Amino acid sequence: MNIQQLKTHKQSGTKITCLTAYDNAFAKIFNECGIDIILIGDSLGNVIQGDENTLSVTTEEMVYHTQSVAKGVSKALLIADMPYQSYTNAEQTLQNAQQLINGGAQMVKLEGGREHEACFKILVENNIPICGHLGLQPQSVIAMGGYKVQGKDKDSAQNILDDAKALESWGVQALVIECIPASLARKITQQLNIPTIGIGAGVDCDGQVLVSYDMLGITQNPPKFVKNFLTNGSIKSATNDFIQAVKNQTFPTDKHSY
Ligand code: KIV
Repeated sequence: MNIQQLKTHKQSGTKITCLTAYDNAFAKIFNECGIDIILIGDSLGNVIQGDENTLSVTTEEMVYHTQSVAKGVSKALLIADMPYQSYTNAEQTLQNAQQLINGGAQMVKLEGGREHEACFKILVENNIPICGHLGLQPQSVIAMGGYKVQGKDKDSAQNILDDAKALESWGVQALVIECIPASLARKITQQLNIPTIGIGAGVDCDGQVLVSYDMLGITQNPPKFVKNFLTNGSIKSATNDFIQAVKNQTFPTDKHSY
């Protein structure tokens, strides 16, 4: 999988599959099952480090996990999260992104929109592929007052759409949209040429991502948008079931959407 193929998938309506991985063993399984994208998510702060949020994750930790994952992946596209406060200005953004790319990532993911214009632009100028992340932004959990659905009213929905269009115009090549109404996700997906990867954003996104520990039923009290695919069988069969369900659009259902 490469970035050009992501675009082709959007154009042909082939749904894109993405799971998080933080270590080599899980990455190898997901890669062998044919997942399109592996995201080294800063959700590792929650699921690996046991913290309440992602705010304490560092670039050094992201590089360490990216290196472990990269050694197990031959086919999937690798995206690594830039953690909290690692993109506060252009120079720092470039240095930290370069570390993740040197660690094996093919693309970096940043949360937020037009407030990070200089950070997005310096990465584009330096040919570092970027995935945006709008809607619920876990790194802004305190400012957002908790893990809440975003874009429910007209103004905030328009703000997310405007951010998405700005990111695309600057050269961002994919966009995660998290916890927004399915109708808004559909509108964003229709109005962008770059692929959208939804999580809690309905079935009409160009692809779907889940935190692997949620997909495998390990997380206690997961959010409504999560489905446990490991009800029977192995991690491999759960992964194959997730891929099939996303590809044939039987996941997510209305039950997993807002
Ligand atoms: O860190 C992460 O796992 C993520 C996903 C929730 C998209 O950003």
